[in-house]
Amino acid sequence: MIKKTVEKAIVHQIKNEEHSSRLYLAMASWCQVKGYPGAAAFLYKQTDEERMHMLKFVHYLNDRGGHSLLLALDDPTAEYKSLTDLFEKVLKHEEFITAEINKLYEVALNEKDYTTGSFLQWFITEQIEEESTVHGILDKMKLAGKDSGGLFLIDKELSALAAAKGAATAAPAE
Ligand code: FEO
Repeated sequence: MIKKTVEKAIVHQIKNEEHSSRLYLAMASWCQVKGYPGAAAFLYKQTDEERMHMLKFVHYLNDRGGHSLLLALDDPTAEYKSLTDLFEKVLKHEEFITAEINKLYEVALNEKDYTTGSFLQWFITEQIEEESTVHGILDKMKLAGKDSGGLFLIDKELSALAAAKGAATAAPAE
């Protein structure tokens, strides 16, 4: 049976992942409306991935004898000054999630719950990948600056990235 402290921390992380999913959905919608179809496709994929992260936690906690509860969420809707501004917020959010996963890992280790520690390894690796992808996108955007041709190309690249993500999501991931 999982300890209450670990259970509470996982329920908190379920909320974080569910919020991430809604945040990226709101961002995808913004990109679609503002005429960035590639960025929208990328973020629509991202929202699905975050839901998959949430479900991983939900199943894990229930499988360990806990109860995955869903907590109230903040409003994810926001306005962005530009596509770069939006992706800067994605990066900030992913850095926050990395810190949250690290905190959860610490709770698990303090409770000597090595099973949860091992389960969290997947998320620790995933965060490295997610932060690195967004860093790469932002680097290109900063190079393009206000050049609309450059941004157009980056949007096309994001569309390709979304298609690649689709292929990866379709593969057996567990
Ligand atoms: Fe589930 Fe992007 O962290």
